[in-house]
Amino acid sequence: MSRFAFVNGRYLPYRHAAVHIEDRGYQFADGVYEVCEVREGRIVDERRHLQRLSRSLGELRIPPPMAPRALGFVLRETVRLNRVRDGLLYLQVTRGVARREHAFPPAGTRPSLVVTARARDRAKAERVAETGISVITLDDNRWQRVDIKTIALVPNVLARQTAREAGAAEAWFVDEAGFVTEGAASNAWIVTGEGALVTRPAEHGILRGITRTVVFEMAAASGLTIEERPFRVDEALQAREAFVTAATQIVMPVIKIDGTPIADGKPGPLARMLRARFHEAAEIGE
Ligand code: PDD
Repeated sequence: MSRFAFVNGRYLPYRHAAVHIEDRGYQFADGVYEVCEVREGRIVDERRHLQRLSRSLGELRIPPPMAPRALGFVLRETVRLNRVRDGLLYLQVTRGVARREHAFPPAGTRPSLVVTARARDRAKAERVAETGISVITLDDNRWQRVDIKTIALVPNVLARQTAREAGAAEAWFVDEAGFVTEGAASNAWIVTGEGALVTRPAEHGILRGITRTVVFEMAAASGLTIEERPFRVDEALQAREAFVTAATQIVMPVIKIDGTPIADGKPGPLARMLRARFHEAAEIGE
């Protein structure tokens, strides 16, 4: 657990860190967030995460809570104060505190900014990756603007819980046409019988994952074939490999979909290679 959280300009002891009951994040999920991996005390892909944050804020017309350089400082300071070597950094910006009224609060209402950091057991995550995870598929019942990284995650919460209750670690959402969109908190990939990597275009129906972008660039630079196109569940069931990407999972092999083993039911070589090499391609901070 974090020992300190940054809340609206102050580093507070975790136990006392709180936002007002009329924060629009609390009342309307009117806010956005980012999750970055912290590795050996350094933030992974900070630049890309802050770029996406800025885009999400722009789409919701929430003013930036502070200048990017200052925000970068707060992120690093939160990691430092919490003495996180390997873990996750969380940052959330909401439209601020105002009397409850659906339309935007008065101009000049200050956005709320919360930053936390916590350690994670890297060895444990590696053990999970050695085995791989199971996923289930569910109808995608989310709104259309899933390209914005909003904190409005109830469908994702319910999907993850359904997965857990089914003995799986992730749920893959499936659109009305039968194509996989993405995971509850990850992007979805398969490897075809010919060895091509397949992942859905990020224009519509998914969040443009930072991990997805880095893996994509790394795979292209390694000369692998990438097909950026939607794929159906039955194609995934026939795939040579499947995996998910997210800052929290890096590259995580998927060994079962809806109870059916993928190929021999073991993590595939491409997923393992991409996981092993991910941090050579990612931007690692100071
Ligand atoms: N989620 N798609 C969804 C719906 C996500 O929530 C996430 C990440 C991703 C992958 O994005 P990235 O590679 O930038 O982490 C895709 C974070 C980790 C979370 O909610 O915890």
